[in-house]
Amino acid sequence: MKFFVDTAHIEEIKKALAWGILDGVTTNPSLVAKTGRRFDDVKREILDLVKGPVSLECTKMDFDGMLAQGLALAAEGPQVVVKLPLTREGIAVCKALSDKGIKTNVTLCFSANQALLAAKAGATYISPFVGRLDDISEDGMALIADIVQIYRNYGFKTQVLVASVRNPVHVLKAAKIGADVCTVPFGVLDQLFNHPLTDRGNEQFLKDWAKVPE
Ligand code: E4P
Repeated sequence: MKFFVDTAHIEEIKKALAWGILDGVTTNPSLVAKTGRRFDDVKREILDLVKGPVSLECTKMDFDGMLAQGLALAAEGPQVVVKLPLTREGIAVCKALSDKGIKTNVTLCFSANQALLAAKAGATYISPFVGRLDDISEDGMALIADIVQIYRNYGFKTQVLVASVRNPVHVLKAAKIGADVCTVPFGVLDQLFNHPLTDRGNEQFLKDWAKVPE
């Protein structure tokens, strides 16, 4: 399973890159707003840092506007993935961009039928939001299992990108189901390293090592 970090904060991206386990980055308008910086500046810095796929989201909602914005974003670098909302216009733009060989990520997916539409439109990635489904007492991970099964049934190439991840259990379940990608907030990525027995064991090894004669 590939790991993307779900952030627009440059420092978080740098730290995750330094760990050597980062495959890409996803952003959205809310994450960019949280930085308090201009989108153009944030986008440029991320694209200069990250060689893997970087999802940048369209904010125009009409077909022509969204298509023009998607084409402009795609021209920014070979690693750009144009992120599109799961609306009628978003799916139509997905088809138009996919036909031109431009990578796309269809976001705000909350049902398996929506994921089927994205795959038929040639999306590179589908982003089902597990945390937001859990928030309304639905089972976010059950949706991931359904989409993985449906895509396998028909041999769709669209990659399942688990989004709206809130905790390490989401990551574990995504990997067990066989999702292609998990996009993880920096804090959750950091938590994946933790185990008290690792810390305790390491402490003991270092104590014992200090007793070994030089
Ligand atoms: C996905 O690409 C989105 O950026 C993200 O995962 C949304 O997560 P949230 O529900 O925590 O806002």
